[in-house]
Amino acid sequence: MTPVNVGLKTQILPAGEAAVAAAARILRAGGLVAFPTETVYGLGADATNPAAIARLYQAKGRPAFNPLIAHVGDIEAAQAIARFDASAAALAAAFWPGPLTLVLPKTSDCPVADLATAGLETIAIRIPAHAIARDILRAFGGPVVAPSANLSGHVSPTTAAHVQADLAGRIDLIVDGGPVEVGVESTIVGCFEQPMLLRPGGLPRADIERLLGRALAQLPEDAKGDTSQPLAPGMLASHYAPHTRVRLDARRVEAGEALLAFGPDALPGVDAGTAVMNLSLRGDLDEAAANLFGYLRALDAKGARTIAVMAVPHHGLGEAINDRLRRAAVERE
Ligand code: TXA
Ligand code: MG
Repeated sequence: MTPVNVGLKTQILPAGEAAVAAAARILRAGGLVAFPTETVYGLGADATNPAAIARLYQAKGRPAFNPLIAHVGDIEAAQAIARFDASAAALAAAFWPGPLTLVLPKTSDCPVADLATAGLETIAIRIPAHAIARDILRAFGGPVVAPSANLSGHVSPTTAAHVQADLAGRIDLIVDGGPVEVGVESTIVGCFEQPMLLRPGGLPRADIERLLGRALAQLPEDAKGDTSQPLAPGMLASHYAPHTRVRLDARRVEAGEALLAFGPDALPGVDAGTAVMNLSLRGDLDEAAANLFGYLRALDAKGARTIAVMAVPHHGLGEAINDRLRRAAVERE
């Protein structure tokens, strides 16, 4: 396996037994495999192999201070990696497998390489719900670190074609399981003294708060842009970004703009030449989440001056959608 991830031959296999066997073989050899989860496609590497993890950071162009999520197949595997307090155990029992990541203290003999946790004493873990992801984890038999399978700073991939567009030639295998179900990344909860919402995502906050019987603590505003203290470095202001400028809360469309719409209402300013994609014509937030990243990519390719985005309600998956849109709208140089 070459140390530099450029010019690799990237195999693409349809989800199935052959793909699962190939994925496990490549992971064991220290290679990189993109595979579907219920949230977004992940780029997997053997969590115990520092060389494989170094290769993964390099393939994504990801700063090595940004730690990774360890994906495991069952709760026993999770307990070998991290210590669960009562609320962590309750959250795991209620929502795993599923779109929830828990940040927990590492066990003293945690097998995950330090490079994957960026030297933190904590580790992010989840058990994905996607059948193919689970088959790969079972066949491989160990923890797999998997960030979203996009170039760092790009929009997360919700289809194998998105992965291919970003990472072909940089990774060994893409397992094509079709479009994902949820469409936004997992919700991240830090199981600190008080459980804290580190990233809104595919599991609505209200479900978590109902289970815990109390409100989640919030990440302090001033911690969000701080790259030196990565509580949840995915909270870096500019992230999940298309190349085109993004303008939020649009109430009309200006000349030269594309429109990311939500709901049945028409906006003034739209004409036959406007590129329009509607996240959900019937105003369904789950449908909108599933469409979000694909539509951002599609509108990004239209060459518009700006992507104008209609307001999206903030409840349910709306919180995660608005979080990703806000990041996409941060001005970059
Ligand atoms: O849905 C998902 O979570 C997808 C799929 C592939 O599982 N994965 C994903 O990974 O979104 P990634 O690497 O794109 O985002 C993981 C986030 C990052 O913002 C990272 O900073 C944060 O988790 N994170 C990882 N370990 C952490 C830790 N110990 N403490 C705080 N945040 C952590
Ligand atoms: Mg990501």
